[in-house]
Amino acid sequence: MATRAMYRLLRPLLFQLDAETSHRLTFTALDLFYRLPGASRIARSMYAWHAPALPVSIMGLTFPNPVGLAAGLDKNAEHVQALADFGFGFLELGTVTPRPQPGNPRPRMFRLVAHAALINRMGFNNVGAGKFLVNLAAQGKPCPIGINIGKNRDTPMERAADDYLTVLNAVYRLADYVAVNISSPNTAGLRDLQQEQNLEALLRAMKTEQAALAKQHGRYVPIALKIAPDLDDTQVAAIARLVQEHKFDAVIATNTTITRPGLEHEPLSHQTGGLSGRPLKPLATGVIRKLYAHLQGRVPIIGVGGIETADDAWEKLVAGADLIQIYTALIYRGPDVVGEIARGLAERVQQSGCRSLAEAVQKARRQQS
Ligand SMILES: Cc1cc2nc3c(=O)[nH]c(=O)nc-3n(C[C@H](O)[C@H](O)[C@H](O)COP(=O)(O)O)c2cc1C
Repeated sequence: MATRAMYRLLRPLLFQLDAETSHRLTFTALDLFYRLPGASRIARSMYAWHAPALPVSIMGLTFPNPVGLAAGLDKNAEHVQALADFGFGFLELGTVTPRPQPGNPRPRMFRLVAHAALINRMGFNNVGAGKFLVNLAAQGKPCPIGINIGKNRDTPMERAADDYLTVLNAVYRLADYVAVNISSPNTAGLRDLQQEQNLEALLRAMKTEQAALAKQHGRYVPIALKIAPDLDDTQVAAIARLVQEHKFDAVIATNTTITRPGLEHEPLSHQTGGLSGRPLKPLATGVIRKLYAHLQGRVPIIGVGGIETADDAWEKLVAGADLIQIYTALIYRGPDVVGEIARGLAERVQQSGCRSLAEAVQKARRQQS
């Protein structure tokens, strides 16, 4: 495809630059392109029109295809139309915190090119909930939108729930679903919220607020919990029990890892932060498989971590996911990857003789067990 050739040509130039600088340059160029009349139509004809309809219904929502954008790429809801035009079935924006914050000092994102991986310690750099909502309202919602929420760095851990409740209130009206991020490794203490007692209190508070907001707005907005890949079996079991008990609407598995699997000889592997991309894949799939063994479909799973191809996506689905998300593969492979994954999944459905992706995945799960 022409755009694939273009991305192959541009990638070496972009990869000469610091990772965050090239990210910014790419999106500045995209924003400039979107000022041209008909830009969205052109982009859709290049990408989105090639992503087949492959609807998936979970959390009371219908997603046009199961390939979503993972949180962290569009933290401030600035590129919603452009990203939707890549053909994503949904976008997860954020992480957004109550107040704006600059994040960690740069450099804070590193490419491990030989491993198709990234290490980042961005630290929830974002414009804060107020500006985020202005941005999102100005862009509209071209596809289902998840909003990923977090706490400010300077909010003490014992007040963390207040931050989540504040942002939940702020974003409720514009979100199709809300993702509660308690798994980023770059905010001190955040992942401790995954411990049973802390999690119980947080989930309870979120559900109470959700019920009040649903009444107030006349609309139920589902809430998903985003978890880390670095959890032991007991922790996964406890999370599975709690999300069922508190009727959470989904689990997103997983965030980046603080481990460095297979990266012993990689000079950048000592950089502090979360690792994403290819080396994360087996870890994330393992967590999804364990979670699914507990949940058995009673709470849906959004699978994320190291997905680069339709085969990777299929593996996550058969392991227990209902939808999938990508981030790092978009950086390494360019926007064509979205349609490629969606088309590959549609082919699987066709080959299986099933009428829907969910049915084809169920069939494959049965054959495996
Ligand atoms: C640079 C970068 C920033 C990220 N920021 C966030 C974030 O703000 N919130 C979040 O929940 N996940 C964040 N993530 C994690 C991704 O959403 C995803 O869970 C992880 O990268 C694994 O998927 P991948 O291997 O397809 O990249 C970030 C990942 C990267 C690479």
